[in-house]
Amino acid sequence: MPPRPAQDHSNRTLCRRRTMSLLDAARDVRENAYAPYSKFKVGAAVRGASGTIYRGVNVENVAYPEGTCAEAGAIAAMVAAGETELVEVAVIADSPAPVPPCGGCRQKLAEFGRGSVPVTLATTAGARLDTTIGDLLPGRFDASHMDNV
Ligand code: THU
Repeated sequence: MPPRPAQDHSNRTLCRRRTMSLLDAARDVRENAYAPYSKFKVGAAVRGASGTIYRGVNVENVAYPEGTCAEAGAIAAMVAAGETELVEVAVIADSPAPVPPCGGCRQKLAEFGRGSVPVTLATTAGARLDTTIGDLLPGRFDASHMDNV
């Protein structure tokens, strides 16, 4: 029997596997989060254009504003390794619903990833929200948010 030609279906399967493994990396590293103040551990993983996975956790500080987000840690690891383009993102926390990255982290992700880059937000209970950097960043305030206009 001749080999089957590559199909869209196999590409989708490959993408799903890649996302799952990135999410697994975020889930694993989350255990190392340093969150004694909020008790809210977050794990993040980004895949560099090379395919390498970089992990990060939130690192809090008794001087609260000095704490850093998991996404920032993963990005810092990627840049320290010599990569400046990310192609996939996963973030996970033990929250009732998938927690979106904070505003600052959206800006940081956008610095290194195109708008089409897939972002998977997940909970440790298994909920999952798939979005993109482009959809996350705008989140902009406009007249529709005011009820007096
Ligand atoms: N946090 C992250 O690490 N990433 C997010 O996307 C949301 C919030 C951290 C910051 C802080 O250590 C804790 O979660 C509570 O805000």
